[in-house]
Amino acid sequence: MSLLDEIEPLKQSALAELHASADLAALEAAKGAWVGPHGKFTALMKQLGSLPKEEKPVAGKTINAAKAELESALTTRREQLELQAALPKEPIDWTLPGRRRTLGRPHPLTQVTDDIVRSFRKIGFVVADGPEIEDEYHCFDALNTPADHPARDTQDTFYVRGHRPEAGGPGPSGGGLVLRTHTSSVQIRVMEKQPPPVRIIVPGRVFRRDNADATHNPTFHQVEGLYVDQGVTVGDLKGTVEFVFRELMGPDTLIRFRPHYFSYTEPSFEIDFSNALVKKLGKDWLEIAGCGMVNPAVFEAVGYDPEVWTGWAFGFGIERIAMIRYGINDIRLFYENDVRFLRQF
Ligand code: DAH
Repeated sequence: MSLLDEIEPLKQSALAELHASADLAALEAAKGAWVGPHGKFTALMKQLGSLPKEEKPVAGKTINAAKAELESALTTRREQLELQAALPKEPIDWTLPGRRRTLGRPHPLTQVTDDIVRSFRKIGFVVADGPEIEDEYHCFDALNTPADHPARDTQDTFYVRGHRPEAGGPGPSGGGLVLRTHTSSVQIRVMEKQPPPVRIIVPGRVFRRDNADATHNPTFHQVEGLYVDQGVTVGDLKGTVEFVFRELMGPDTLIRFRPHYFSYTEPSFEIDFSNALVKKLGKDWLEIAGCGMVNPAVFEAVGYDPEVWTGWAFGFGIERIAMIRYGINDIRLFYENDVRFLRQF
């Protein structure tokens, strides 16, 4: 039998042995026996030298092809055996239900805030913000809230320790620091920084010294709106409020203005609204927001000429909107982070 005729049967036996290896150790042994330095295939290659010159090219080619085939079979088998070794030894029960991934979602207050912002963006408002720890000047003085105004009573306001008005400092209030009691302070911050016209809304957290109960919490959220331009009217205010509340509370929503008092607006109004949700609560109207035409004293505080510029402002509580919208009867539910509550939104 010539060398050339030995190649094919030798290759077949080698392939059979590789395929039959039951684990990685057996495979390594088979590898050594065939293509290792002392392997049978290696020996065959060594015999090439003794062949007659004219037979060498064909024999060399055939052996190389066979060797390549063996090596690729070796790799394939190794991968199979490695995979096998990695699989769990226990049988898998394919009928078991899969593990569910629970999806997170925005907090209901965030959802309502996003809706409010989206509605105002449609009509050209941009979002502004300001500090939660605020000085008394921005929270009260510049908003035309005199020092003896009830809103400044320590019953309502959290003062920052070491920064009580008595501590002394710049500004009419002596530089006291407070946790802002409303987002109206941001009206002042924005107008100080930019010339008119202004068209902003300010969603944000506010703080008041209230005991927590079903309708009160020492911290809650508001949205403030401010529009300053030339020739702005109460009609613009009412139209805007109506547009936004219809977006928020449904197209059947009606709006009503009642005269009220805020130091930073003149005239000032409280806004009531009515719709099917309100009727369901057994009421005709629910009070929802405060608003008015910007008081000229506020424009003077920020250096806007009140003879040239006019504007309106409003503010309302986000929790209150969310409670009416979703029929929630206790404000504290928003802050407990109980997933049984949060999952419902
Ligand atoms: N700051 C008021 C509050 O906390 C709400 C408010 C009323 C804001 C009238 C305004 C406004 O901008 O014009 O109750």
